[in-house]
Amino acid sequence: MATNEAFYKRGKTAGVFPSLSSRRDEAYMNFIEDARNLLLHAQQKPIGEYSKLLLNNAGKSMEPDPSSTMEAVELLMKDNVLKTYYRIKRTLQESFWECTYNSLNMRKNDLLQALDDAEKIGPGSVTYDPSFSIPEYATSEIHIQPGGNANEPLSGLLYDYGSKVFMGGAADNDMFADMQASTVGVPKNNKVNRILDLGCSAGVTSSALKRIYPDAEVWGIDVSSHMVRYAHARAIEQNYDINFKQMLAEELNFDNNHFDIVVANLLFHEVPVSVSKKILSETLRVLRPGGSFTLIDFPGDKTRDVYTMFFGEMDAADNGEPFLPGFVRSNVEEIMEEVGFEMSPYDPSKFILAGRIGFKPNN
Ligand SMILES: C[S@@+](CC[C@H](N)C(=O)[O-])C[C@H]1O[C@@H](n2cnc3c(N)ncnc32)[C@H](O)[C@@H]1O
Repeated sequence: MATNEAFYKRGKTAGVFPSLSSRRDEAYMNFIEDARNLLLHAQQKPIGEYSKLLLNNAGKSMEPDPSSTMEAVELLMKDNVLKTYYRIKRTLQESFWECTYNSLNMRKNDLLQALDDAEKIGPGSVTYDPSFSIPEYATSEIHIQPGGNANEPLSGLLYDYGSKVFMGGAADNDMFADMQASTVGVPKNNKVNRILDLGCSAGVTSSALKRIYPDAEVWGIDVSSHMVRYAHARAIEQNYDINFKQMLAEELNFDNNHFDIVVANLLFHEVPVSVSKKILSETLRVLRPGGSFTLIDFPGDKTRDVYTMFFGEMDAADNGEPFLPGFVRSNVEEIMEEVGFEMSPYDPSKFILAGRIGFKPNN
């Protein structure tokens, strides 16, 4: 694939990710990934138990209402161990973006040229509109990623590499996307001709779905032109025929009853709850009767206690997630039902995060 040479000039990291611009940067990012694994992921359980003990000793209720969550934040952030833990979390996040951003920027012109070149070839396609109006909420520097998803031309590459480090190895070789895609609901008559991936980012879930349903027409949409441009280049590298298009999930430019499967993997916690409702109505409109919608995201208020709400609040602050607290406080299953989905029984054990599956009723 000649056009993608600029991405893979230094080879691939963890099977699928374009390597950074120098061995030194790669080594530094390996260190950050290991530090995150050792200091954050491995400590999450004991830190959680310690936090719950502090809450318990202070006689705090574990009911997940907004005021008790903010009280928990105030109380727990007075503790030196927790203050240090969350400062390390924030610093590691800032460090990994700084290195990834600086490293990729050294090759910025070549990388942008590679994105331009990839647009002209298939398999699959990419469509975007330079005059597309990006809603204000979608312009934040989510994950504290420099420039955010929508305003930084290299955001697709940044996000892809950043996810690898953030996931501490779980996303290597697209393993995580494959696991997520394997939990997607199958439509009622098992027929799958068309699939839509909402908020597709680098297109890793779109590709994983293509692996499961190689004959289906797969579409990935994202508000960011930079994301769909990169997703297309990444899909070409894997020789997948997928169509990527810049589009708002709340204003889908597809016919009624068009798709057999719609998936939203980690989109909903990145939009305001008012937008979620519109996305759900649009999703129902474009699904054919009996078609399935799978919403994979964080657990909502059904399954959370005050400590996990506190954790969400801290993640919102340390990971630049302005809409995460609103999402976890909402009851997305209830909203899906209100909009008209026929819900599958909720089975959190089936999913790595939390998945909700709804079907479009037949009538
Ligand atoms: C966490 S990422 C999703 C990850 C991706 N689904 C995957 O499987 O790797 C969220 C994505 O949603 C996109 N997004 C946010 N709001 C959107 C909207 N209203 N419509 C479409 N895409 C949106 C962002 O640009 C971002 O790329």
